[in-house]
Amino acid sequence: MISFRNSEKFDKEATIVLLDKEQVKGKSFPFKHKKLEEDIKDLIKNGQFSGDKDEMFPVVIKGGLVLLVGLGKPADLTLTALRIVVKKALMSSFLKKAKSIELIPHCDDDKAVIAIIEGHLLGTYKWDKYKSKPKDDKTVSDKEVVVVTAAKKEYLQAVTICNGVNLTRNLVNDNADVVTSVLVEKTVKDLVKGHKNVTLEILNRKEMEAKGLGLHLAVNRGSTKEPKLIIVKYNGGSKSEDYTAVLGKGMTFDTGGLNLKPTNHIESMRIDMSGAGAVVGMLKIALDLNIKKNVIFAMGMAENAIGPDAYKPGDVFTGYAGKSVEIGNTDAEGRLVLADAIAYLVKNYKPGRIIDLATLTGACVVALGFDYSGLFSNNDDLARQLVQASNETDDRVWRLPVYPEIKDYIKSQIADLKNTSSIRGAGACTAAEFLRSFTEGTTWAHLDIAGSAFVDNGARMYFGHGATGAGVRVVTNYLLNN
Ligand code: BES
Ligand code: MN
Ligand code: ZN
Repeated sequence: MISFRNSEKFDKEATIVLLDKEQVKGKSFPFKHKKLEEDIKDLIKNGQFSGDKDEMFPVVIKGGLVLLVGLGKPADLTLTALRIVVKKALMSSFLKKAKSIELIPHCDDDKAVIAIIEGHLLGTYKWDKYKSKPKDDKTVSDKEVVVVTAAKKEYLQAVTICNGVNLTRNLVNDNADVVTSVLVEKTVKDLVKGHKNVTLEILNRKEMEAKGLGLHLAVNRGSTKEPKLIIVKYNGGSKSEDYTAVLGKGMTFDTGGLNLKPTNHIESMRIDMSGAGAVVGMLKIALDLNIKKNVIFAMGMAENAIGPDAYKPGDVFTGYAGKSVEIGNTDAEGRLVLADAIAYLVKNYKPGRIIDLATLTGACVVALGFDYSGLFSNNDDLARQLVQASNETDDRVWRLPVYPEIKDYIKSQIADLKNTSSIRGAGACTAAEFLRSFTEGTTWAHLDIAGSAFVDNGARMYFGHGATGAGVRVVTNYLLNN
């Protein structure tokens, strides 16, 4: 829980005071409190607090705890580092018992305040649904945090965005057999309930068969679960404005199919719906913020399982676009589902641009690691706008190439295309090219979030173990500003 108020009161169970090194040096504090100011001056004089980054010093004022938190030199303090410090402060053992916390920022710069909000709401997010725990063990997200700053529109918007990111994380983190295509459909329907500017189209197995989404159906053949293409048309902009389609890969579990994934690769594959999860989070944000834009939110839902009817390597399937695809590997399933979804959106919705998000390739993780999503696009302007959005949100993307000659590598001897590449290396790029070949020239960008969507052990940046909600902030920012 988070709220804002204009001035500090020191009336909560604990107070966090953020101080950079310059403030400590100049003894200029972001609050008014005679006694505390005197105490801090003493601490500085005695060399007990200097404002170094990650330094924490507890002071007791009238029985209340004040935690001084150092931010280091302002010039060295990135917004990412600020998020991390805020997370650490809120999760520090000094505050373990405090159920209400006043947080006094070191400055009132908008970007810094938003970083503080995210340090709290994203940094202290915890997936503990399946932990049995003592009743009084409050996680930080249950605590009341009051930030001392005016409740500007930008800040309330940041809170809404964080809540969307955390919805995505909940969907990604939960069991594969809980977050099925049916549950995602229900979640979407619950979100749009009562909103008049929204229309829904849902394709189930039956409709896919009738319409010929043969690639999506092939992927789901080994599963007992229902494949779904969920399409939400959100009319927030003017009638004449075109639609931006945001499409997510929603593999509720990816066993690899008959090309079964081995131990150490299969365990996390419930996260293979992170793209669709991100789209659900963005839908919630768009509705909550009532964004003034026309957007199509689409989720390609399937399960890549190994039932007796599972699709087989070497077979050929024809998709919605009328193109046939040879299955080089049943584990390259995401591009098949997305290919049908892209073709369906292009033909039936004619969006001005498509942005897809997918945990598409292990190769992208090899190329970029975990802190950046791979960005691919057939349009330099769209790519630039997404990089800009990435810089503004800290939801990081780095552009990788798709180029004319790469299409030679996904040719098949027996079909129009193959779902695997004939060359070694560049696996993220050939997968992107496969998607591009279904866009029919529509402006398109693809975010490969295979590495960025999930933290598998410990923590990275301000994310703890589990889903990060990668893609939600960057694409939401893009939608808000373009
Ligand atoms: N879902 C995986 C990609 C993935 C890997 C996501 C690791 C998150 C973490 C995808 O469906 C896949 O299996 N891709 C294959 C493609 C290959 C068979 C051409 C891969 O990357 O190995
Ligand atoms: Mn796979
Ligand atoms: Zn997959």
